[in-house]
Amino acid sequence: MTGLRTLVLGFGAIASGLGRDEKMARYFDFACHAQALAAHPGFDWRGVVDPAPSAQADARDNWQVPQVTAEVADAVQAVRPEVVILAAPPGARAAAVAAMPDLKAVLLEKPLSGPEDNDGDDLAAICAERNIPVLVNYWRRADRLSRTLASGGLVERIGRPQAVFGLYGKGLANNCSHMIDFVRMLIGEVATVQALGPARAAADSSVPGDQALPFALTLEDGQVASFGTVDFAHYREVGLDIWGETGRLQFLLEGLSTTVFPRAENRGLENADEISPDAGEMLEPTVTDSLYRIYDNLAAVALGSATPWSPLSSALVNARIVDRILQSAAEDGRRLTVD
Ligand SMILES: NC(=O)c1ccc[n+]([C@@H]2O[C@H](COP(=O)([O-])OP(=O)(O)OC[C@H]3O[C@@H](n4cnc5c(N)ncnc54)[C@H](O)[C@@H]3O)[C@@H](O)[C@H]2O)c1
Repeated sequence: MTGLRTLVLGFGAIASGLGRDEKMARYFDFACHAQALAAHPGFDWRGVVDPAPSAQADARDNWQVPQVTAEVADAVQAVRPEVVILAAPPGARAAAVAAMPDLKAVLLEKPLSGPEDNDGDDLAAICAERNIPVLVNYWRRADRLSRTLASGGLVERIGRPQAVFGLYGKGLANNCSHMIDFVRMLIGEVATVQALGPARAAADSSVPGDQALPFALTLEDGQVASFGTVDFAHYREVGLDIWGETGRLQFLLEGLSTTVFPRAENRGLENADEISPDAGEMLEPTVTDSLYRIYDNLAAVALGSATPWSPLSSALVNARIVDRILQSAAEDGRRLTVD
């Protein structure tokens, strides 16, 4: 078997479980890391580390992973990983990477750090010292439609954005960080942040200590993106609505529904135009292989022939923005710079 010797640390929902979600399977050929690893010729998936017996049984029985253990040291000795997928919650990721001498690249899940640790910063320091490239699974950075829009397609379709509205649920460090990253990818870097209401504990977030609140991002060119929250107990929505000078682009259902609304003559007033809310054109979603494409990039990065589409340095900016939003909330909505 050729391919990069690969180890997965943490074998829960994002590593494997989401691959069993039948509804997700209608849209995603690759809903979890295991599906991408099992299919991608660039990787020789040799091991899984997870302390949970059920996760170990899943790796062994459903994915025929040869080395399954609770101990990082055992896995490192048996696999000698060239690539590690960090799909356990933060806390022990930096220490695990420090114990892997043959690494050529790392792929990790957000958030970068937990409330009680600096795992992300520690990981960044170790990898910088050893010159190991790190990718973070902000998968829209690999999605074909998102990449086309980010490289000129957005302005081509709707002109220059004038107003941007986002929605998220659970917490800032949970799916909101994907939306912050998406705004940066599509429109531009964030200069300042401002909380628009008090932070409340996001008890339903899988990220310990996570919080949710409405907030605004002012981008470097002066545009403003404002975000509100919805309670997933009522329904789930993670989306972005961009009103441009010549059209409107609406992303709903986490990328499953992307609609362009055209500009037309205003139906209710002479000498004015409108964005027609009833004439939307849905764009074909391309999410099905986005995670597989993260692995395309990961393999190329590990072999030194590409740079990361979603590098750790960029994910650290998302984490910094989240921290500053929380700081703004603690300071009664004071506008704060991100630097
Ligand atoms: N990029 C995305 O869209 C996305 C989606 C879901 C989850 N995530 C992130 O992925 C990470 C995992 O989330 P999940 O939903 O799979 O969680 P999960 O609870 O379903 O699975 C986590 C697994 O990690 C194992 N684990 C815990 N500590 C470990 C350690 N020190 N070493 C090895 N294994 C350990 C647990 O036993 C469990 O099996 C979280 O950080 C989460 O925020 C990202």
